[in-house]
Amino acid sequence: MRVTLSVIKADVGGYVGHSSMHEALIERATEVLAEARDRGLVYDFRVLNVGDDLELIMTHGRGADNPEIHGLAWKAFEAATEVAKGLKLYGAGQDLLSDAFSGNVRGMGPGCAEMTFEERRSEPVIVFMADKTSAGSAFNLPLYRMFADPFNTAGLVISEALNSGFNFEVHDVLEHRKIIFSCPEELYGLLAFIGSPLRYAVKAVYSRGTGEVAAVTSTERLSLIAGRYVGKDDPVMIVRAQGEFPAVGEVLEAFSHPHLVEGWMRGSHHGPLMPVGFKDARCTRFDGPPRLVAAGFQVSEGRLIGPVDLFGDPAFDKARELALTVADYIRRHGPFEPHRLPMEEMEYTTLPKLMQKLRDRWLPIEAPVPTGGF
Ligand code: 13P
Ligand code: 13P
Ligand code: MG
Ligand code: MG
Repeated sequence: MRVTLSVIKADVGGYVGHSSMHEALIERATEVLAEARDRGLVYDFRVLNVGDDLELIMTHGRGADNPEIHGLAWKAFEAATEVAKGLKLYGAGQDLLSDAFSGNVRGMGPGCAEMTFEERRSEPVIVFMADKTSAGSAFNLPLYRMFADPFNTAGLVISEALNSGFNFEVHDVLEHRKIIFSCPEELYGLLAFIGSPLRYAVKAVYSRGTGEVAAVTSTERLSLIAGRYVGKDDPVMIVRAQGEFPAVGEVLEAFSHPHLVEGWMRGSHHGPLMPVGFKDARCTRFDGPPRLVAAGFQVSEGRLIGPVDLFGDPAFDKARELALTVADYIRRHGPFEPHRLPMEEMEYTTLPKLMQKLRDRWLPIEAPVPTGGF
């Protein structure tokens, strides 16, 4: 059976502040999607959250970028926004950058990862959802580990199904263009680009053996769409596991090291990406640290069997502990780089306003220092 798995997310109101999700938003979005399932538009769905982001996970038969499916997601976000407004939740409708839906959520605020595949005899998939970070930042390094690093993924060495390698589709999110790196041969070239994750984001990974899609991420950048800071592009990713892909445990292993990502407070800081169970998907300290949940499903005839809360496991306690130690360490830098993002990155967010305000205050280095206050 041919199935499309669509994960579409938006922040339509935080509870409290940007920290978490009010249950009423999940309930409202669930009502909208349940109605769509009853009339056959989607096969199955789940509504989850990470922090203040509402996550719609849907299976259907209509392929990626389908106007009806995107329209459904938009409708669910609008309905949840109404509830958020009624409760005066924080930033109600934050990620819906337009009043009118135009056929596709891409470029309109929500984040989106979709893949279409022929269901295998058994189809394990993992949906990763992060808050207070961005796609390249959260997923470039782990995707490299999963699909290209034998020290992470034993299967690259010992499984014939994997050792034909993987193609990485990398997007230049500033220039709106893409490049494919064929690995392992082109590993160094791949790393040269994806090591700068704010500009170059891995959009998808494909098996070279079968051509099948292995992973897809959301790479929308809100600030580039809106032209100002309107919240982070809290990303999602879908990864297929087992068979010609890494095992579930190899996919998860890539997150056992809480690497530094951009995001966190006001979307303007570096901090560790902490893998957490669903019950801890709540951004508190300094609006974070940035967090990641993993929902495991078996897809069966289009149905979503699950989720299993894959990071809700003591095996990731050490990663969380390290994340907290790193959070303590880096927080003490306060407003200094590299805790705060570099100037160039702030230029797309909060800096232009400040620059404008102080525009006339700059003097030549040789000028005498003026006396008095300002
Ligand atoms: P099982 O023998 O439990 O199926 O595990 C196989 C495997 O590949 C684990 O990574
Ligand atoms: P969100 O992008 O999750 O809404 O967070 C915004 C923010 O400013 C957090 O400090
Ligand atoms: Mg928010
Ligand atoms: Mg968020």
